[in-house]
Amino acid sequence: MEQTDYMKKIEEYGGDILVSEGMLSEKQFVQHGTTTTYDHSVAVTEMCLRLAKKFHSKADERTLIRGALLHDYFLYDWHKPHGHLHAFRHSKKALENAARDFELSPVERNMILSHMFPLGRFPRYRESALLCIADKICSLRETFHRKKPAPAQTETSEK
Ligand SMILES: [Fe+2]
Ligand SMILES: [Fe+2]
Repeated sequence: MEQTDYMKKIEEYGGDILVSEGMLSEKQFVQHGTTTTYDHSVAVTEMCLRLAKKFHSKADERTLIRGALLHDYFLYDWHKPHGHLHAFRHSKKALENAARDFELSPVERNMILSHMFPLGRFPRYRESALLCIADKICSLRETFHRKKPAPAQTETSEK
């Protein structure tokens, strides 16, 4: 499946989340490197769908998409006042915000709460396990694949 097909599916099942005020506010927060929390959440959702396909998982696509889109719905800049406690606390805050703004199923709740496993809750459903893996893959990529700086001009290059 192409990336555009995954995006179509994400829009189909999570369109209301993507255009919500809370989710759009994630565009101003940097998650890792140069990636915003919004872009990270969409990338993790796409990775969940890819992994589900690869592992022939019977995960429910709608649940997988909605839980993944909301997994980092903590809605603050974690680099500033929250510091080192962010890793331990943000899944709880994300669930609190997501439950306030959207209708959540028990599986979606567990997905959000357990995505930092082994920190925090145990992933009890296949959707939760997929999210946990997808989040770690994307986080590592975003942390280490920063854009390379433009090459410095050398004195001989313009002759
Ligand atoms: Fe997270
Ligand atoms: Fe994440």
